[in-house]
Amino acid sequence: MGVVDEVKERIDIVDLISQYVPLKKAGRNFKALCPFHTEKTPSFYVFPHTQTWHCFGCNAGGDVFSFIMKKENMDFREALRFLAAKAGVELEKKPPEEIERVKVLREVLSVAADYYHRLLTDPEKGAKARAYLEKRGIRPETAEVFRLGYALDEWHNLEKYMTGLGYKREILLEAGLLIQREDGSGVYDRFRGRLIIPIRDEQGRVVGFGARTLDPEGAPKYINSPATPLFDKGRLLFGLDMAKESIRTQDMAIIVEGYMDVIQAHQMGFRNVVASMGTALTETQLRKLARYTKRFALALDPDVAGSEATIRALQLAEEALDKEAEPFIDPRGMLRFEERLKAEFFIISLPSGYDPDALIRESPERWEERVENALPMVDFYINVITQKFDLNSPRGKAEAVRTVIPIIQGIPGEIERDHYIHKLARLVKVDEMAIRREMLSLRRRKSRPRAKPTPSKEKAPAFGLEEYVLAQVLQHPHLLELIEDQMRALAIPPLDEADFAEVENRVLFGAWKASLDKGISQLEAFVDTLDPLLQERVHFIMEKARNSPPVPLEKLEQEVLNCALRLRGINLHRYLQEIRFLQEEAQERGDQEGVAHYLDLVKSQVEELATVHRALAQCSGEKARAV
Ligand code: UTP
Ligand code: MN
Repeated sequence: MGVVDEVKERIDIVDLISQYVPLKKAGRNFKALCPFHTEKTPSFYVFPHTQTWHCFGCNAGGDVFSFIMKKENMDFREALRFLAAKAGVELEKKPPEEIERVKVLREVLSVAADYYHRLLTDPEKGAKARAYLEKRGIRPETAEVFRLGYALDEWHNLEKYMTGLGYKREILLEAGLLIQREDGSGVYDRFRGRLIIPIRDEQGRVVGFGARTLDPEGAPKYINSPATPLFDKGRLLFGLDMAKESIRTQDMAIIVEGYMDVIQAHQMGFRNVVASMGTALTETQLRKLARYTKRFALALDPDVAGSEATIRALQLAEEALDKEAEPFIDPRGMLRFEERLKAEFFIISLPSGYDPDALIRESPERWEERVENALPMVDFYINVITQKFDLNSPRGKAEAVRTVIPIIQGIPGEIERDHYIHKLARLVKVDEMAIRREMLSLRRRKSRPRAKPTPSKEKAPAFGLEEYVLAQVLQHPHLLELIEDQMRALAIPPLDEADFAEVENRVLFGAWKASLDKGISQLEAFVDTLDPLLQERVHFIMEKARNSPPVPLEKLEQEVLNCALRLRGINLHRYLQEIRFLQEEAQERGDQEGVAHYLDLVKSQVEELATVHRALAQCSGEKARAV
């Protein structure tokens, strides 16, 4: 890891910035009055999840480095020195020996993998292992693709081979290929007389081995590489290097337990399959997969799938994935906040006594059918949890309900939530209303702020153009569609959440649109689904709207369209400034391609702005005539 990354990892942006500016929690993020320009309402935001900051007033933003550079008026180097000292990171680069060592380690693993593979294909030496593979229905091409190997049943075979090539015993020990005798008197090969399964990282580099006994009764069944600087079971997924493309294109990752399950699945053309290698699924593993899909299906032993460890990992991952609101610049050059898609989990149930390998071997069609009929995690979870409690006793009922409620509350979509409330009520034989009441009280308890309440010195939020538009579309759901149509007719992209600079407005608008798309246009029902902070905001906006002079209904559409266009104009302006900021940054980096790219963006934004101005002129002309 580079020093810059190391500093970033050790310094939390919220800690850092709060040493300069009093930060105030705003949903998942923090806000403050911008330290870089004068303002009355906070538009300076810090995003813990991305470890970035951005001021929507002055359009500055970046990471810990850019903050310190700007705040302390330092150049990059000075800021690095400053932050490294704070983080206790040595500025000196890793000693070259260290870098060299990891390189050699990789090399050793790769050379050993090749050697084992050669032994497997050796007409005599590999015969027994090849017979074993054949018995298990693994074809030679598959053994080739996975670079399977064989370790001779000898104590010093690999050692001799590798030292013969000039590798020191020390590095072979570090790579986990040799074991030191307890009394220190010598070393011996870790893997002997076993089928060798190279474990590769996401990039396809060998980082360790799993080694299976050829003896059906042999124990232990597998011997794996020990933890090394390259081999960390909790971060790796067996088969990911080969599965990642399929996971992306099929938008689904199937997680199995065993090496053999993956090998068999891939052999039969089911390529989106990876293995957790027998350990409880970790959040890290899921995050890794989440780069390719947000849909996961677990084909685990029912006990494992239902175990506390798995459930906890899933919940953690789900929360982590759900939480991320990432600021990014979209292709139009707009800074946006993308709420990462909520992950979906499914459980593939297998006939008892089968693992995926066995089922696929027996009938690929049945495997496919099981995959297609995978149960949503929630259903599975409800089954598991409810089995744990005595549903005949009032106490058991209450505990079961309280345990399942948080999971139900985590489900996106009112209709889906309703479905599960029904289901739970039926199962536990409790009145649905009682469950809903319980949900409400749990939510209230949960939503109580954890941080010490800061005395509200901050001025009441403004009721500006954004809030006005928001208030109108919240009150008149049909208006939104009308305005969108009008904007399209003017060759202007319809109103979008990115048109709202204030994050809360932005999120509200996005959520409202999504809600309307789902057919929920009742304001109360919508508000119910919101984060308490946003609920507060809706109440504030509606209150203000009620107190402002009413617009006659026949003029309302024109009025709101006008406001929407103005919003867009402001928005385009803001983005133009942002792009300029990015462009300058590219310039400083000497990134000519970036500079050119941003220039193109600026041109297209200017064009769009002109269209909006024309539409506005036309719009007010019509208004003038109408009056
Ligand atoms: P399984 O016993 O299900 O393995 O353990 P498998 O791949 O289906 O093996 P076969 O079909 O019996 O040959 C699941 C995973 O748990 C890890 C391995 O990663 C294995 O693939 N495991 C299992 C070990 O690491 N050590 C063991 O002794 C057993
Ligand atoms: Mn198996």
